[in-house]
Amino acid sequence: MVPIIATVTDWIEKQTSMIYLDNAATSFPKPEAVYQALDAFARHDLANPGRAGHKMALAAERALDDCRHLLNQFFHGEGPERFIFTLNCTDALNMAFKGVLKDGDHVITTDLEHNSVSRPLRAMELAGKITLTRITADKGGTVDPDAIQKAITPKTRLIAQTHCSNVLGTVQPIRAIGEIARKNELLFLVDAAQTAGVIPIDIQTMRIDLLALPGHKSLLGPTGTGALYVGPGAIVGAWREGGTGGDSSSETQPRDYPYFLEGGTPNVLGVAGLAAGIKYVSERGLAKIHAHEVELVERLWKRLDEIGGYEVFGHRDMSQRVGTLSLRSEALPAAEIGGILDQAFEIAIRPGLHCAPYIHRAIGTFPDGAVRVSPGPFNTAEDIDTLADALAEINL
Ligand code: ALA
Repeated sequence: MVPIIATVTDWIEKQTSMIYLDNAATSFPKPEAVYQALDAFARHDLANPGRAGHKMALAAERALDDCRHLLNQFFHGEGPERFIFTLNCTDALNMAFKGVLKDGDHVITTDLEHNSVSRPLRAMELAGKITLTRITADKGGTVDPDAIQKAITPKTRLIAQTHCSNVLGTVQPIRAIGEIARKNELLFLVDAAQTAGVIPIDIQTMRIDLLALPGHKSLLGPTGTGALYVGPGAIVGAWREGGTGGDSSSETQPRDYPYFLEGGTPNVLGVAGLAAGIKYVSERGLAKIHAHEVELVERLWKRLDEIGGYEVFGHRDMSQRVGTLSLRSEALPAAEIGGILDQAFEIAIRPGLHCAPYIHRAIGTFPDGAVRVSPGPFNTAEDIDTLADALAEINL
């Protein structure tokens, strides 16, 4: 029998030999400081936060508090306690939709959304609970705020929109849409799955009531982390009721935030890693990370222009993009290209529909989907050149 340690070592070597270009799904690798924070926390402080008064429980509670403060600063929220830790961005979105929407509400959303927005809303629509308007993005992949304004009815309660398409990488005019929401006294929910940690988000000046974010993408934390920011204008119903550590005598969930929405033992280890990720991003600087990632996709796009035989989707204004690029070959389906890149070239990308079927229908890539390339802060121009050479060879 092969000793387990040999198997694990082989696996690590194999994984790290890949050129990883799937950061829109989750970032890899994480900064060294994140690995160190996870290791140190797991070895020394991994107790149940707030469940006892001993030093380790207090240290674990402090890790949650520290990260909430970092999030509040980073996104300019109205208080650290308003950041509720979740399993991921989907969890945060479900908490928001199911917690705020009432029978008869009308919701405005867009065709750029990921299934984490589209599915819960569509299920509520099919159940007869809400009505839904889905705004179509323009050909370049941007939603027009005027179209949102025009869709408002007396029943509209919520505008729910992504900050950036996870397929096209196009950044949306969130500030203008936030103004419309505020002027019309509507709740404004932003899905920041593709922007938190790479595009500046100011909750207060962008007039965001509910911000859903993953910890494991551009904030560079581990999987199993995310958060929902709940602004003072949003009343979210209890989600996971249960133990919170404090106020055990209360028969129902304590009303104070974050505990009202945070029943059960939280992923304090993941949150300790997330805090290290946020610090890394703050120190390196969002603008620098963004410029680096966008430069890499622009480099790829230029190579594809030369190679020919590939179609790239979305507008080309790099100032309104993140480092995510979707393309299609005239010769081969996306899934086949993904398989060849993985097996023959050791390159990781994500082919298919990217959990965003509406936008794939709109750009004409349904049902096969597209090849999505998403570099991260640690990718290099050489990685992109290797990918471009591989794509040239595949299309011969
Ligand atoms: N939402 C992630 C993606 O776009 C998983 O790939």
